[in-house]
Amino acid sequence: DALDYSGLVDLAAGTVDRAAFTDPGVFQAEQERLFTRVWLFLGHESQIPEPEDFFTSRMGTESVIVARDRDGQVHALLNSCTHRGMKVCRHDHGKAKVFTCPYHGWSFSNDGRLAGVPGALIGVPHFDKAYRGELRREDWGLSRAPRLEIYKGTIWASWDENAPDFLDYLGDMRLYLDYALDGRDGSPGGSRVVAGVQKWRVNCNWKFAPENFIGDMYHDISHRSVDLVGIGPAGGKGRRAAFRPRLAIGFPGRGHGVLGELPTTEPEPYNDAWALYPEVNDWYRVAHEARLAHFAGRPRVAMSVGTIFPNMSFHGRQPRTIVVAHPVSPTVTELWRWCLEDAAAPQAVNDAARVYFLRYSGPGGMTESDDMENWSYATAASLGPIARRRPYNYQMGMGHARPAPGLRDAVECGELTEENARIFHSRWADFLRGEPWAARVPHAAE
Ligand code: FES
Ligand code: FE
Repeated sequence: DALDYSGLVDLAAGTVDRAAFTDPGVFQAEQERLFTRVWLFLGHESQIPEPEDFFTSRMGTESVIVARDRDGQVHALLNSCTHRGMKVCRHDHGKAKVFTCPYHGWSFSNDGRLAGVPGALIGVPHFDKAYRGELRREDWGLSRAPRLEIYKGTIWASWDENAPDFLDYLGDMRLYLDYALDGRDGSPGGSRVVAGVQKWRVNCNWKFAPENFIGDMYHDISHRSVDLVGIGPAGGKGRRAAFRPRLAIGFPGRGHGVLGELPTTEPEPYNDAWALYPEVNDWYRVAHEARLAHFAGRPRVAMSVGTIFPNMSFHGRQPRTIVVAHPVSPTVTELWRWCLEDAAAPQAVNDAARVYFLRYSGPGGMTESDDMENWSYATAASLGPIARRRPYNYQMGMGHARPAPGLRDAVECGELTEENARIFHSRWADFLRGEPWAARVPHAAE
């Protein structure tokens, strides 16, 4: 069984031992104790609109097939044959009634079964001759994640039967996720994924990415070149054009956090960030008015970036994106990025968002390049025996968190703080200790 590494997080001192970011034993413990239990983001329903569509995703280090069966039900299936472990699907996405293992030919239905689907060409080659009809095929289907939830188009799964319901897991972080997933006019879930998923590897520990997005406003200095070049949609005004004052809002006991605004009934002012593109700007302005009408007199939130524990982060303003940090090894992470567009928007608007996305985020995006450079050099420079004598410092703003008005189980700590990173690592330590769910999620116990 995995060792208990939770002591690497010292909340009283405000430090995290570098081993949490570099040690193979810690990495293994994370796989066994954290990634087998939490809710993980797999992808978006718009990637599999039709029955028998599938895409492959990851849960921790493991590949999973996310498949829509012939009745339209979505399943998350471990992509490892139950015979000798071969990866049964080596495609990124496609359409399949059956997944046939390339090694010896065991054939599974798109809900994971090896037997018992009338009319489907599934089963085991030479079942009569080789197995003499004695194999209990109904016991040897692909492993299926017992919990799967589709929320406003986003697909989530957990291997833990006892995990709290997904909405309990989210808590009021849901309001901020909604900000990213709803259409700009406020229409619930009015977004879809543009084209495919960007996937690339970075030589860093996976935790750097979610920790960055959870509320590290302090690292903004990294992106000075972006502002000098002025790649924002408003040209020379750079990214600043899209910025308004934000707070680090964190969810202790859940591990999520966001840079955003507290719930308010004040109307959100229109942001003229797309002024260089009149057609685009006009549509956003109209959508903005519709959003104001949608929320009239009701509390609404706004946010720029956030993380849902442990490894799903997202941008809530244009371009709206989702990025997941998949662990590969202690020092290698596979980043996957989805760009969201408004299902209701004209092509010109979505084209502009996509182009802006490409130059802003992803492996070739200017801001992401800055971040990746920091994360990979930080990982490499933390590996040596002398470097590992000193923990990382997370002391910014310790003891200054206040309850966040209008939100359940949330705190805020101003704009520049490491409170959200402490919340993240505290939650990480809970899992590495192996705590039961009720101790962790405030509402799951009620
Ligand atoms: Fe899949 Fe043998 S490993 S059929
Ligand atoms: Fe950044």
